[in-house]
Amino acid sequence: MATDGVDKGRRRFLTAATTVVGGAGIVVAAVPFIKSWEPSARAKTAGAPIEADISKLEEGQMVIVEWRGQPVWIIRRTKAQLDALPGQDARLRDPKSTNTDQQPAFAQNEYRSMKPEVLVLVGLCTHLGCAPQLHAELKPEPFDADWKGGFFCPCHKSRFDMAGRVYQGVPAPTNLVVPPYSFIDDNHIMIGVNAEGAA
Ligand code: FES
Repeated sequence: MATDGVDKGRRRFLTAATTVVGGAGIVVAAVPFIKSWEPSARAKTAGAPIEADISKLEEGQMVIVEWRGQPVWIIRRTKAQLDALPGQDARLRDPKSTNTDQQPAFAQNEYRSMKPEVLVLVGLCTHLGCAPQLHAELKPEPFDADWKGGFFCPCHKSRFDMAGRVYQGVPAPTNLVVPPYSFIDDNHIMIGVNAEGAA
């Protein structure tokens, strides 16, 4: 009988361990760095545009590609994340993206993107260039009790919403940068070049 108890306890432990490993696997898979997207060293040096395949990017996931030596994030936002954006305006430093240095003209809209669900940002904090972390869930966080998803920079605690708009009262002075980009088709984005006719 004692053995039964041990076995049951062990089974519970294994179940829990498997669940944790499974969860960790999902986190890793949600933020893959897709090596095959990297351009050649020559193209990198020249700052050539790079193509990103987003066909496998699911809702709520982010992938990181490298363009001109900088990380570029591509995130497929959920409806809940998009719906929460207007409610943040009063808490933001530049909710209407009036600083035109921070995004191409096509992204000066409520979503800061060409397609509402697909967000493209340079992944560098506008304070001193650290890498902010994605905190995608709409739930209270230690750094913001009214968090609606977004990016937190642990270096000096700057916060940005799910459109990369900076909150008031943090050291980062401006919204995160939206790089030039264009859609080749629904599943492929060219980073580094605006759509024909787009500013
Ligand atoms: S570098 Fe991000 S808050 Fe300072």
